[in-house]
Amino acid sequence: MDEINKKIEYLRYLRDIGETEIPLSSSAEIGKTNAPNSTEGNIEMNEPNEEKKPTGSDLESVDRKRKILGEIVGEVSRCTKCQLHKSRTNPVSGAGNPSADIMFIGEAPGAEEDKQGIPFVGRAGKLLDKILAACELTRDDIYITNILKCRPPKNRDPLPAERTACMPYLLAQIDTIKPKVICCLGRIAAQSILQTKIPLGKLRGQVHRFRGTSLIVTYHPAAILRNENFKRPTWEDFKFLLKIVKEQKAKG
Ligand code: URA
Ligand code: SF4
Repeated sequence: MDEINKKIEYLRYLRDIGETEIPLSSSAEIGKTNAPNSTEGNIEMNEPNEEKKPTGSDLESVDRKRKILGEIVGEVSRCTKCQLHKSRTNPVSGAGNPSADIMFIGEAPGAEEDKQGIPFVGRAGKLLDKILAACELTRDDIYITNILKCRPPKNRDPLPAERTACMPYLLAQIDTIKPKVICCLGRIAAQSILQTKIPLGKLRGQVHRFRGTSLIVTYHPAAILRNENFKRPTWEDFKFLLKIVKEQKAKG
């Protein structure tokens, strides 16, 4: 998305959620990492501002992370640990910046994701892109994956055995990327990771810890598509997310 379109998306999203003020201090730098993004040959050209250029060791570390994430893609594509491997078209390992500050975790691939092998490319994903744009973030700034790497038939909820079987891939992704903050999208992701039955509404608005990382919870974008009333609280959660990322980055 070019700069103008990004700004338009941002203003549209603010209008849609009934925001009447434009935040003065840009959130643009908050979730961004200084490491190059995941697009081959597209070592990000920083805008002429004070943003730090990646150092040699950042490059080394991003290359190492990319390599491990690539190995996870390979393992997932050969995985037969649960029954879902039989019905999948493509496994969906994850996508984004190997050195992302923010890692989003959804539930499982849907029809479009299963077709393309990429997470969040259907309607829910398009909405997520808009929310990210409102935060002045793109897919290249974040990493995104799911609890399950293969699509459950008819998008049914992941079974406990499937979640358990697939969890090592997610843990390996978290330990590799080492994000500043994890954001669970929806009840299934939050409850699977935090190993709880506490309802989503009660898990929102607080900072949880998972494997030494701060973790917050918000609505799944598909839930917003079903119920517009979730738009505003989701926006509050994203502002909270950006605040936590900023705090974590300040801590170093
Ligand atoms: N919903 C999810 O939880 N994950 C996707 O990748 C797509 C839709
Ligand atoms: Fe393996 Fe996970 Fe796919 Fe099941 S859902 S086959 S555990 S990759």
